[in-house]
Amino acid sequence: MTRNYTFYTAAFLLALVFTGCGQKAPVYSNHPDIPAKVETLLAKMTLEEKVGQMNQYNGFYDATGPLPEEGDARHKLEHLRNGWVGSVLNVRGAKATRELQRIAVEETRLGIPLIFGLDVIHGHKTLAPVPLGEAASWDMQAIEKSARMAAVEATAVGQNWTFAPMVDITRDARWGRVMEGAGEDPFLGAHIGVARVKGFQGDDLAADNTMAACAKHFAGYGFSESGRDYNTVDVGTSTLYNVILPPFLATVEADVKTVMNSFNTLNGIPATGSAFLQRTILKERWGFKGFVVSDWGSGREMIPHGYAMDLNHAAELAANAGSDMDMESYAYVKHLVALVQAGKVKEEIINDAVRRILTVKFELGLFDDPYRYCSEDREKKWLYHPEHQQVALDVAKKSIVLLKNDAQMLPLNRAQNIAVIGALANDKTSPLGSWRIGSDDGTAISVLEGLDALGVPYAFARGPELVTGPLAFSTELEFNTTDKTGMKAAVALAKKAKTVVMVLGEHGLQTGEGRSRTDLGLPGLQQELLEQVYAVNPNIVLVLMNGRPLAIPWADEHLPAILETWHLGSQSGHAIAQTLYGLNNPSGKLPMSFPRNVGQCPIYYNHLNTGRPGPGTDVFWSHYMDVPNSPLYPFGYGLSYASFAYANLSVAVKEDGTVDVSVQVTNESEVAGAEVTQLYLHDRVASVARPVRELKGFSKNHFNPGESKTVSFRLTHKELGFFDNNGTFIMEPGTFDVMVGTSSQEGLSATFDVK
Ligand code: GLC
Repeated sequence: MTRNYTFYTAAFLLALVFTGCGQKAPVYSNHPDIPAKVETLLAKMTLEEKVGQMNQYNGFYDATGPLPEEGDARHKLEHLRNGWVGSVLNVRGAKATRELQRIAVEETRLGIPLIFGLDVIHGHKTLAPVPLGEAASWDMQAIEKSARMAAVEATAVGQNWTFAPMVDITRDARWGRVMEGAGEDPFLGAHIGVARVKGFQGDDLAADNTMAACAKHFAGYGFSESGRDYNTVDVGTSTLYNVILPPFLATVEADVKTVMNSFNTLNGIPATGSAFLQRTILKERWGFKGFVVSDWGSGREMIPHGYAMDLNHAAELAANAGSDMDMESYAYVKHLVALVQAGKVKEEIINDAVRRILTVKFELGLFDDPYRYCSEDREKKWLYHPEHQQVALDVAKKSIVLLKNDAQMLPLNRAQNIAVIGALANDKTSPLGSWRIGSDDGTAISVLEGLDALGVPYAFARGPELVTGPLAFSTELEFNTTDKTGMKAAVALAKKAKTVVMVLGEHGLQTGEGRSRTDLGLPGLQQELLEQVYAVNPNIVLVLMNGRPLAIPWADEHLPAILETWHLGSQSGHAIAQTLYGLNNPSGKLPMSFPRNVGQCPIYYNHLNTGRPGPGTDVFWSHYMDVPNSPLYPFGYGLSYASFAYANLSVAVKEDGTVDVSVQVTNESEVAGAEVTQLYLHDRVASVARPVRELKGFSKNHFNPGESKTVSFRLTHKELGFFDNNGTFIMEPGTFDVMVGTSSQEGLSATFDVK
């Protein structure tokens, strides 16, 4: 279909002059003809149809949140035909999306296509490691490729919008959703968020295998008090501007098409009703051109928050605050038209929201071909594609973190017959994590299958069951804490073996939304099983399978080898087995501190020094009586089968104020491997106290045995500066400590002055 540019140019000029009583219509796209198309269509729409674009319904399948009392499907189709629905989420499959799209396009007055959203968090059918695990790879190319794979599979089943990446920084492993993000550091979190946006959106949003991304949850959700999901968030301005917001800003600068607001109040104001967040910061200061979608029901939830009197008031607050689309609150579809007619919400507010939504739909190519994403042929071709299995395996292998390896116990040698113990060792679903709404249970390669593929000899004893009762996304897990069936057999097997591999950790549904814990130890009977096995055979390799940092001081104290393998996705078993036997040299680094015990939470490396950093000879310094302040394993930590030495740190402050830093890294072992060299800064004195250390550079490099490389960084004002308490980015002269090394706690240091 050829475009009539003359027509659109004329329409564009007209729209510019006459839209909004003579004011220039804002332009939310760089495409030559999309702004004109948007204005032309907007001018045709009734107020009801405009509000309809701002209404998003859950499809008729999986609810990913509590269904409102009206939560049945009957009226949804009627509303769809009336043109009162702009988007649907959780619709499964090309056939189902095509049918709903057909109704929207062929049975409504203006035929505006729907945009279909889904939580494509770390893959669709083929799953990569859970995002926190994938973050441990520190490999931006691998992470982008993983998101690309997810987009290819999700768009093949009719989705054109993913509710990812989640870029919430968090420091509290009690919060189940740490699994979904990139950990505790804003610099790493920003880079990973951008890599995921690029992977999902690609270079051409109108291509049939790219989709709109969504930076979420805006903002502060990761600071839910006490790590309890949906809880209150109160943070200071420096934390807001220097920790919470930077990853969102980075995704906006990477042209993320949508942002999802969050359930929480931020300093007393629900994010969905916060004009400060959604208008002042996001749309005005940052110039965000996409649209904001509320989180599930978060509009309605302003009532229990005590911020809205009723759903009508909630609709007024949310629309005026800049929440452009209402996910499953029914607030807009019920009340927004009347609010505009009553003058409580200006029609220009509606026009701006609809302009943003239509712009994304045009950029997705939905008006050119509404069925572009609903291809059953592509569905058959791309789901679980062998190429995707390789992508998932590659990023899984890069995400494994070696936490301990005394006496080089790992890698194992193939000849030795090992005992494998633990219910998670043959669990084919837990490695998929909890955000696997598009995938299928039982499709992960288990640890046992990974060992079988290598043909290594082993004997297996499950030990006690980990969980009992029903397993579902929205159902509470029940842990087995009484039925010890299998314990004796496991201990007996361990007694006969030379080496024991114990696969312990969290069930796949134990992290994610609504999965907060107050105990970060091994759940159920696993700790008892571990100690009983240890009593008969201390030669244990612990393979952790989990979605959050765990507190494992006993294991760290007693066991010779510990491998952190997260919930590693579809190829989990192959990646773990290949790492156990040295076919893969682990290169992951922790994106989040592991506490000694839950009492240390929230715990993070980039903390302020305090006025009493200690250590002191008396009690009057910032410390605990019962454990050190340091975590069990720090941010950025991870060992290798190789050994890397750092030398010759060089720092050069240039005339232009930039600072060149370089270091020599040598692989002093006989084993090839990759090392993540990290650069941390400490601004000693500033107008806002700065953290004792902040990640400001990293580089992952491969080294052959004996190989040396010079790893270089250039620091600019972007790395040297910070946001003051007004949210203004500033750089101040002063003295900086720089540390370059293998973790946030280990490296070579120097000092330099910036004039
Ligand atoms: C959920 C989550 C959000 C998700 C949305 C749609 O409650 O908070 O991350 O994208 O609802 O499923």
